[in-house]
Amino acid sequence: MCGIIGYKGKNEALPVLLNGLKRMEYRGYDSAGVAVIREDTVLDCMKSVGTVSVLEHRLDSADPAYQDFFGYTGIGHTRWATHGVPNDINAHPHLDCETEIAIVHNGIIENHETLKKRLIAEGHRFASETDSEVLAHMIEKFHKDLDLESAVQQALTFVEGAYAILVISEKEPDKLIGAKFGSPLLIGVGNDEVFLASDYAGIIDHTKQTIVLMDGEMVVMSDETPYRIRKIQKNISVSRPTQTIDWDITQVEKGGYEHFMHKEIHEEAEAVRNTLRGRINMTEGDALLGGLSKVNDRLKNLEGIQIVACGTSYFSGIFGKYLFEEIGDVSCNAEIASEFRYRKSLLSSPRSALLAITQTGETADTLACVKEANRKGILTLGIVNVVGSSIARDVHAGVYNHVGPEIAVASTKAFISQLIVLTLMGIKLGRMRGIAMSEGQALLSALNELPEKIHNILSQEEAIRNIAQEFYKYEDFAFLGRKFNTAAAMEGALKLKEISYIHAEAYTGGELKHGAIALIDENFPSVYVAPKDSVYEKNMSNMQEIKARRGTIIAVATRGDEAITKLADRVLYIPQ
Ligand code: M6R
Repeated sequence: MCGIIGYKGKNEALPVLLNGLKRMEYRGYDSAGVAVIREDTVLDCMKSVGTVSVLEHRLDSADPAYQDFFGYTGIGHTRWATHGVPNDINAHPHLDCETEIAIVHNGIIENHETLKKRLIAEGHRFASETDSEVLAHMIEKFHKDLDLESAVQQALTFVEGAYAILVISEKEPDKLIGAKFGSPLLIGVGNDEVFLASDYAGIIDHTKQTIVLMDGEMVVMSDETPYRIRKIQKNISVSRPTQTIDWDITQVEKGGYEHFMHKEIHEEAEAVRNTLRGRINMTEGDALLGGLSKVNDRLKNLEGIQIVACGTSYFSGIFGKYLFEEIGDVSCNAEIASEFRYRKSLLSSPRSALLAITQTGETADTLACVKEANRKGILTLGIVNVVGSSIARDVHAGVYNHVGPEIAVASTKAFISQLIVLTLMGIKLGRMRGIAMSEGQALLSALNELPEKIHNILSQEEAIRNIAQEFYKYEDFAFLGRKFNTAAAMEGALKLKEISYIHAEAYTGGELKHGAIALIDENFPSVYVAPKDSVYEKNMSNMQEIKARRGTIIAVATRGDEAITKLADRVLYIPQ
């Protein structure tokens, strides 16, 4: 996730910006940059791929003209690449053609391609591959005749997508402007100084007084008025009192969470929103996956899909296999990449596709499968989180997850996002191959409801912790599920092994009786994922088998399912 920071006040801006960027480092990023109005006249900008320390080094060793970089108004950014690979040019701030305006942006400009074409036709020169740069040129276009505030307002009326932006201009050196729609932005109110940041961590060293901007609002800071909040669409002022944030610095280092994995679990609802953003066509009951559009004809005629992946991403693939056959109406198989790679595969038809699922986009076995499929002329597709990664570059077409970095390494939000992308792909395939519009609409509505349901599940954290507290001394666990929830059971067992160092076996419920049930006794608890779905009754009979062996069951069940308490010793309820 990008971090953004802005400063206007009595102190030198650069140290405040660099400190703010460092404070937000925990969010993960691949490049950083700053822009300052030097001595109230000239706009200076410096950016670099790599860490804030690399940027600092570059600032220190820069041309003497830059050495001062001295000014009282400035903006800064840490970037996590989504459009365009991580490099110096794609790093923010982005500048207009005359290098008089600098912007930083957090979010996605969905119609950037259309806007960019129009701006190029009007004579604008683009430097980067990012969606964000269009903002600098749109503002430039209007700033020729309008003041900065009106130019920003006008530019934003053409923008579709999500943004938190900060803007400065050499032509109005006392101004710092921020605007927000769909991405976070808050104002920090200090003593003769004002801050803007995407995250309170960025300004925690300076003030506890903040105002959270709402979607559709702008804030204008100038020498005349420390800050004025207004609506973007209409010039109506908004008055909102400051709130005191009662955080200390240690909490902020991991965004207030105990550790990064905990934090990333709590980012899952946001991850789902980011994955879905701009990808739902409710009218048609269809998924909008721009990254696949160039292979639409081949998708329509596919005879089969081979999914390859490793670890958590492979478990997503298992879910994909069930889903593509059920709603996508296409035959599908999922296989561990390190196996697929070394065996003879008969996959060869021009009507087959190989789908690689990978968070990093760099997993060697998965990459090798893609390269081999490319060599054979098979259509290769990807579900990848890291933009510009090897697999993202090598596949013919694909879909990005857009969930930001997983600093914890143990997959959480990327897994959820992979399931969402697979569902969107399943809907797209299904709509091409026969499912009704109304079925597509029903699935899309259900996806839209997920973030709220995730919040609801995580609000039971205390109850979940109590169960962990009760069971952590057991040495072996079984994780069970059937059909779609086979993937959930497998991922659950992996998480217990990887994070808690406790042995866990994942099984499909129906397979347990074919031998492995011999392990079950009062010392071998089972976590059973058994929501109300088409295999619910089957799960109930598998639970009976476990009970017959005196096994303890912790069930994950649909809220309102009282019957399950007759078999399960503990129940964690989730929404339907
Ligand atoms: O980057 P990838 O998705 O290709 O990585 C594959 C696995 O190494 C990964 O999913 C791993 O199993 C998880 N991080 C475990 O939590």
